[in-house]
Amino acid sequence: MSTESKKPISLQTLRDLKKAGKKFAALTSYESTMTSMMCDAGVELILVGDSLGMVIQGHDSTVPVSMEDILYHLRCVKNGNSNAHVMADMPFMSYATEQLAYTNATRLMQGGANSIKVEGGEVILKITELLANKGIPVCAHLGLTPQSINRIGGYFVQGRDPSSHDKFIAEAKDLENAGAELLLLECIPIGLTEKIVDALSIPTIGIGAGPATDGQIMVVHDLLGITCLDKPPKFIKNFLENGETIQSALHNYVLDVKSGAYPLPEHCFE
Ligand code: KIV
Repeated sequence: MSTESKKPISLQTLRDLKKAGKKFAALTSYESTMTSMMCDAGVELILVGDSLGMVIQGHDSTVPVSMEDILYHLRCVKNGNSNAHVMADMPFMSYATEQLAYTNATRLMQGGANSIKVEGGEVILKITELLANKGIPVCAHLGLTPQSINRIGGYFVQGRDPSSHDKFIAEAKDLENAGAELLLLECIPIGLTEKIVDALSIPTIGIGAGPATDGQIMVVHDLLGITCLDKPPKFIKNFLENGETIQSALHNYVLDVKSGAYPLPEHCFE
């Protein structure tokens, strides 16, 4: 692993990349060695995602993940991180009240996160504003929000109905006005992503949301072809095929995101 010191990636770096029309690469990570390899590959943002409930713990959703789980994996990631921006997910119900949001976001920031991520639109406006006013960078998460899986009823593409688009765009703008620094869009059609990205000035990150976002994110297990799903979602690309090593797969992911070679139309929802 490289010992060369690289400039830390801050929110300003991500804003500058957006301004320059350059894409940034993000991945989930839950442990130290993989984090270190991601930094060597040039990944700019690492999410300690509550997807760990599924890919590490073997649950069928992210709902069982606790604050202690995220804090443990955040520590592991921090130990391997050299220069990436580290974002930590606020798990299910950890921001159900304003007080919980303050307490738990503080724990994550003191645990070494550079920003925190919360799922929802209108429902997280107040929390976004409160945390932002206290100096905590918030990434809002719109589209498919896996913590609501029991209400949604399945991992379906959101926003397929054009009549829902105005609501998504209004929520995205309200989140930006409330102080969100980043917006993650999950599993929505390309056209809706384009409209949201056009309406905002903050950097956006996409997963299954097409090429228009400023950054792309993947669950690292998906990138490495480690899945227990019979039919993986179409936005997943296995970068470990064709005899690649893990290091070169990570590097190729970064190159493909930056050059626009990922995602291709075959990875997107119309
Ligand atoms: O927890 C997670 O992995 C996520 C993905 C959508 C990136 O939130």
